[in-house]
Amino acid sequence: MTPGGVAPVDLVVEDEIIVWVGPDCDASVGDMVVDLRGLYVLPGFIDMHTHLHLRVGPFSVADDFRTGTAAALAGGTTTVVEYVTPDPGETFTSALDRWRKASEGTHADFAFHVCIPRVTDEVLAELPGLIRQGITGFKVFLAYPDRLMLSAGDIERVMSVVGPAGGVVFVHAEDGVEVERLRAEAVSQGRKAPIEHARTRPAHTEVEAVRTVIGLVEKTRCPTVVVHISCGRTKELVAEAQLAGIPIFGETCPHYLWLTERHLLRPFPEAVHYVCSPPIRTATDALQLWDGLCDGTLQFVATDHCPFSSDARNSTDSFARVPNGISGIGTRFGLTYSGGLPTGRFGMEHLANVLSTYPAMICGLYPRKGVITPGADADLVVVNPFGHTDLGEEPLAGACDFNPWEGFKAPGRLMSVMGRGDWLWWNHDFGEAAGLRADPGRGRFIERRRLSPAILRHLQRKDLSWIFCP
Ligand code: URP
Ligand code: ZN
Ligand code: ZN
Repeated sequence: MTPGGVAPVDLVVEDEIIVWVGPDCDASVGDMVVDLRGLYVLPGFIDMHTHLHLRVGPFSVADDFRTGTAAALAGGTTTVVEYVTPDPGETFTSALDRWRKASEGTHADFAFHVCIPRVTDEVLAELPGLIRQGITGFKVFLAYPDRLMLSAGDIERVMSVVGPAGGVVFVHAEDGVEVERLRAEAVSQGRKAPIEHARTRPAHTEVEAVRTVIGLVEKTRCPTVVVHISCGRTKELVAEAQLAGIPIFGETCPHYLWLTERHLLRPFPEAVHYVCSPPIRTATDALQLWDGLCDGTLQFVATDHCPFSSDARNSTDSFARVPNGISGIGTRFGLTYSGGLPTGRFGMEHLANVLSTYPAMICGLYPRKGVITPGADADLVVVNPFGHTDLGEEPLAGACDFNPWEGFKAPGRLMSVMGRGDWLWWNHDFGEAAGLRADPGRGRFIERRRLSPAILRHLQRKDLSWIFCP
């Protein structure tokens, strides 16, 4: 997969870097030559939304950087972007120290977004410094009034600082006040079943929040991503805003593309594993999200990997106290490939865009990551389009004792994965030393670049360099 599309080329890797891409390269004495004819080589995938070190109340996620990034590599993800979520009252410095320490066992490269749980003049003054340290993404919440919710005014203040400094705002868009009212009503009426999670977070709560976000982005012009988009109407709103030139982008996740609220009607101990926010919705929503992915309204498929164990999920008898999140750090390729390629919705180039190139661009990792070109890190994924993957396979699951993708047989198979010049993952049908080959701790913190006007234009599909201009 070259920047110009799929081409039958050779590529040369020296140490950690791609040094040459082109036809018919002669090997030098001592080179290791790998013949990948008949297979696709894509840029290493980037998961721009993970939770590998999160604690919510008494519960910690079941994965850590070591186990989570092992599963990520098995699924072709060579870089993760992890959300650093400060505890109430905790400084950014302290939260970042905790996450840096937690990342020590990582197998994959990683970068950070930082969540902003409250806005003060001091907090705003710190943001440009974080951007200079290579942390360019900031998440704000219109949801979770008990922990993280900000007012529209505070989000506007964040955008007014982050945009001009070259950063990007990531928004969790659910109307937290309305959701809280519906949840309180359900609890007072004794409604406890997991399906109530979806009923108390209806689509209109996401739609209204996205309307608010669009207004703020229109005013501030701060490049903004609506994360984990779950419903078709939201996608429509984002599409309209994009047509009006507003710099807003959309991320969705495999669970919104493949699961429906019927999963929340399963017996309680199982249904609780499908409790995430926003909730999984209807098949119609899922189909509309696939449309959005095809037509470019949604540019990113990320996992929002947030695995809580069966014990944590079943520590309560009410949906209202179940820790939220779905796991899937290893299964993103299989799920995106399955819905995209065999169905004819999109081809290999677009798959590489939504899993790698566009996330690299918005996260300031491009052109070091997300592209196969001389000078880029040698992060490569080898794909056999004729193979199949059982998404229940153990290496893809991570450490959580429940895999929501068990039983899914996906077309397409990853053969091997290279990270910065080393083969980190080797599949069983490709060589003798199958499995994970990376040592814990080999992954590196990657400093992110500011979002450049050229990349912003490219993501906005406003790059008019092709126009004939004599
Ligand atoms: O349910 C979810 N998505 N949990 C993870 C935290 C978040 O809001 O992304
Ligand atoms: Zn969120
Ligand atoms: Zn998340």
